[in-house]
Amino acid sequence: MNQQLSIAVFASGRGSNFQALHQALIAANSAATIALCISNNPNPGAFDFARQQGIATARLSPKMFAEEKEYEAALIELLASHGVELIVLAGYMRRLPHGVVQRWRGKILNIHPALLPDFGGQGMYGLNVHQAVIAAGRTESGATVHLVDEEYDTGAIIAQERVPVLPDDTPETLAARVLEAEHRLLPRVVMEMVAGKR
Ligand code: GRF
Repeated sequence: MNQQLSIAVFASGRGSNFQALHQALIAANSAATIALCISNNPNPGAFDFARQQGIATARLSPKMFAEEKEYEAALIELLASHGVELIVLAGYMRRLPHGVVQRWRGKILNIHPALLPDFGGQGMYGLNVHQAVIAAGRTESGATVHLVDEEYDTGAIIAQERVPVLPDDTPETLAARVLEAEHRLLPRVVMEMVAGKR
């Protein structure tokens, strides 16, 4: 990838992974920049951070269009008009339209709060994931960055970071430990891709 790389981040909620990525790119004085933050929700926490940082925001949801194809065309136009070369899903709760996956195939990353392929797929988000890991009696969990394809959490795994599951963990304490791993893993993988190492 070329160094002057334009990234779009998709976030549905608070956006802590978006923040971690932005701060890591700034700290590394990376030529890659987050050109815009897109959400399916009208006013996610991620937009507050984006506005503080002068990053463009756009709310785009299938609900805003009569047809899925119109939504897909609008999303492609938005991404293309910002010259986006890398898409990062950071707490994004929607599937991307097939046309977007096809056009940016191999350049769409997602961060998942478990060690895929276990504990992934539809419904595996938020505390549900950590609840399932604890219920399964696992002694470790972690974060996964994977390529995005047409399904949920099924694309090629790029990197993982493992964390212990402690005997007295609750879903909340495990989520917090995994989130710290996410905030390390996602920026590392993005910067390796930008540097052409991946
Ligand atoms: C993270 O745990 C991420 O792995 C999952 O959703 C959560 C989003 O958190 N996809 P945030 O919005 O990045 O704080």
